[in-house]
Amino acid sequence: MALDRFPAQAHVTASAGGSAPRARPEVESLVAYSAPLEGRRGLLRLDFNENTVGPSPMVVEAIRAIPADHYAIYPEYDGLREAVVGSLGAEAGVSPGGSALTPAHIGLFNGVDGAIHAIFHAFGAPGDRLLTTSPTFGYYTPCARMQGMAIEAIPYRLPDFDFPFEEIRAALGPPGSATGAPRLLLICNPNNPTGTRLAPQRILELAAAAPGTLVVVDELYEAFTGDSVLPPLLAGGANADPFAAAPNLLVLRSLAKTAGLAGLRIGFAIGAPALVERVSRVCGPYDINSFAVTAAQAALADQAYVDAYVAEVLRARDWLLMQLRQAGVRHHAAGGNYLLLWPRRPAADVEADLRQAGILVRSMAGKPLIDGSLRVSLGSTEQMGRFWQAYRRVDGLT
Ligand SMILES: Cc1ncc(COP(=O)(O)O)c(C=O)c1O
Repeated sequence: MALDRFPAQAHVTASAGGSAPRARPEVESLVAYSAPLEGRRGLLRLDFNENTVGPSPMVVEAIRAIPADHYAIYPEYDGLREAVVGSLGAEAGVSPGGSALTPAHIGLFNGVDGAIHAIFHAFGAPGDRLLTTSPTFGYYTPCARMQGMAIEAIPYRLPDFDFPFEEIRAALGPPGSATGAPRLLLICNPNNPTGTRLAPQRILELAAAAPGTLVVVDELYEAFTGDSVLPPLLAGGANADPFAAAPNLLVLRSLAKTAGLAGLRIGFAIGAPALVERVSRVCGPYDINSFAVTAAQAALADQAYVDAYVAEVLRARDWLLMQLRQAGVRHHAAGGNYLLLWPRRPAADVEADLRQAGILVRSMAGKPLIDGSLRVSLGSTEQMGRFWQAYRRVDGLT
């Protein structure tokens, strides 16, 4: 059952009846973004694309070392942006100090969800247009709606859920034109939930063609594909501002899915300092808590742990794909630590029976193009072995 993220507020509104103060019209017509978050501990969680084994021991050690009196102090952020710069430079293969990326290019947020919310808050005005794809990550739409924006969601191309590049290109309007262009273009790469990959160069092309549009690339799952716009931008060396040619591009990264910090809530937006600063204006001064800061520093210092986890997930993916092929199960896997599969029995029944077996997966019921499928997050090979054993039984495969 999908539980509301804000049950207490819902109760207050209901019991107060019509006398509760009304919110802005856009908020009155909004349904709170909800996700089935409760009662998941102790189960095999293949429903939120989280890291399924937890963070580096260095993260655990760093959090345990925080003295209790520090809980009483507002968080300090010094050094975290620098650590992100170092980590992104290393990932792009440039030596320390070898890129012109600076702390001012990095925005810190309460998860990438916090960054997404802030971007819409800062840039989306009533009547402005959000251009995106469908189906994609579920939080973009409510953020657009709460600003009163119009949403244009272009479907992925069947049968393989290819990126609708030409359609997106056309919807941006004539090259270089700012009039009539959408306010925001949101691209999730690889896309959650279809896994669709788009070559980074193509995203840079779109951003260059639409200078009047803020192009946001949600790279939450890029570690599993290696497709990122950052390496080509950082390739200019230490003297070239990486975003000089892409002042309208913002890249989102998180430590939730790879480094195992989903519960601590920390995410990053990377872009031209003037852009990052504008988005930060709509955030509170202490939005990211001290535990997240400490954990992020430790996680960024142990890239080897993340690399080993990603490699294990990719091994597990290959193994599971082989089983699915051999058993003739319809499936779709492209990028990210998740895949879609279409059970023979109704997806809701299979989801419920797997839960009985202690395994959580996510039904895609009601999502355009993929209604009837299940999204299964990928974890370790051992975990995928457990999943596959249960799935075979539950869906009647022998
Ligand atoms: C594509 C995408 N973007 C953003 C998020 C939210 O990330 P975070 O946990 O950093 O807020 C998710 C989480 O599922 C996601 O799938």
